[in-house]
Amino acid sequence: MSISYVLKERKNTYGDYRDDIQSLVELNPNQMSFDEYVYIYELIKSKGGCNLLIFGLGRDSELWLNVNADGKTTFLEDNLDWIKIVNTQMNNLNKEIDIRHITYTNLGYDADRLLTEYESGQNNLKLDLPNDILDNNWDVIIVDAPAGYGEDVPCRMKSIYESYNLSNKKLDVDVIVHDAQRRIEKMYTDYFFKSYNHIKTLDDGKHGKLQHYRSVDSNE
Ligand SMILES: C[S@@+](CC[C@H](N)C(=O)[O-])C[C@H]1O[C@@H](n2cnc3c(N)ncnc32)[C@H](O)[C@@H]1O
Repeated sequence: MSISYVLKERKNTYGDYRDDIQSLVELNPNQMSFDEYVYIYELIKSKGGCNLLIFGLGRDSELWLNVNADGKTTFLEDNLDWIKIVNTQMNNLNKEIDIRHITYTNLGYDADRLLTEYESGQNNLKLDLPNDILDNNWDVIIVDAPAGYGEDVPCRMKSIYESYNLSNKKLDVDVIVHDAQRRIEKMYTDYFFKSYNHIKTLDDGKHGKLQHYRSVDSNE
């Protein structure tokens, strides 16, 4: 049996979008799990076209564009190489994609200090985001960047903070944070989403923990 035959067989396991997810996970084994992708896909699909904001580009970007084809999807990315890769890929597919280049100016080592400062009223967690991103009413926000593989690189302090900042003015905004088992990501999600409804945790112990929160009425 040739390799291409094996792949073709695998792609027809479900006969629906899950075949795309299965191929993505095979191609991209160290990122989200099959179950995590299916969970987020179903959530976005259920909105029937929404305002979707994603921290982080990658091989999954096309999946998010496709599932939200009737809505507005915007990506925030710091890595210029990934912006080039995904822009080229989407150009080749004749698909439009809205990518904004952003800059993370802190390392993981800064995480404890930044949160202590925030608690004492000094907010140094804001990202320099365009006004239309700040003013938009987002329905779903996915935090899957920056890479944050160690404390000597930028971690997700500011993306988690901004996902909170952009969601807390409106009821029922879904916020998904991936790699939430990591020390900094756990500290920041526990802190910022403590008043939110905790909807779901997915964790197979191999692909990073996914946490799903939903904003509540801040007047209650
Ligand atoms: C956890 S990765 C996001 C991966 C993306 N969700 C995917 O799997 O398609 C976080 C950042 O690393 C970079 N990146 C994207 N895909 C990557 C990959 N397959 N391997 C390593 N880094 C990646 C991008 O700069 C991205 O913002």
